[in-house]
Amino acid sequence: MKKLVVLSGAGMSAESGIRTFRDMGGLWEEYDVMEVASPQAWNRDPELVQRFYNERRKQLIESKPNKGHEGLAKLEKYFDVEIITQNIDDLHERAGNSKVLHLHGELKKARSTVDDSLIYPLDGWELKMGDKCEKGSQLRPHVVWLGEPVPMILKAAEICEQADIFVVVGTSLNVYPAAGLIDYIPFGTPIYLIDPADISSHKNFTHIKAKAGKGIMELQKELLENSF
Ligand code: APR
Repeated sequence: MKKLVVLSGAGMSAESGIRTFRDMGGLWEEYDVMEVASPQAWNRDPELVQRFYNERRKQLIESKPNKGHEGLAKLEKYFDVEIITQNIDDLHERAGNSKVLHLHGELKKARSTVDDSLIYPLDGWELKMGDKCEKGSQLRPHVVWLGEPVPMILKAAEICEQADIFVVVGTSLNVYPAAGLIDYIPFGTPIYLIDPADISSHKNFTHIKAKAGKGIMELQKELLENSF
């Protein structure tokens, strides 16, 4: 089976009611990223950081995968689909995709503040001050904050090097190292970009100018017609 590698961002989950970051009405219009999603914020006011992610976790639990997520899951019938996502939601997995790599962490997990390898699934939406790891340290959201390293980037680059088809969906390609993954795609690999807005990149790509739901339907049609 041909390997179809997908790089997704916040726009992928917009039709599930989850806000993006940099669009009109995006999260970073309402919140200062340095105040809620940085190690400095955690040191300064951990309750505020916990509250920010608890609210997002509560919303995620009430959200459902959209047609776009479902469309990518259906493509597993025809391709070896690898999803590399910047999203911390679990909507790709809930739609049925079997290979999902989270570059920026996972909202439904907590992590030790003394040992990065200690990661715990969260049942409900609330992570509280006083919730401890097995080594007695405060638990923090298992997400990558501004300025923190992205441990999964090497694995993601390896996957991109094996791509027969590459699809970028719902990301403004503003944030590195994620946006740099496009440079690991082998020369000549067809690249599709699904986004209702114009996105600039130094790579040649086919722009499917649509929202994820409709855009992925168009992609499916194109890929199956071209019998890749
Ligand atoms: N379908 C597809 N794309 C959409 C939709 C939709 N329904 N709605 C918006 N978009 C597009 C926007 O046009 C924009 O290009 O999704 C993109 C969202 O871009 P950002 O808000 O910048 O989100 P993203 O690229 O995922 O951000 C990257 O930045 O804040 C950090 O860690 C955070 O993972 C995040 C990273």
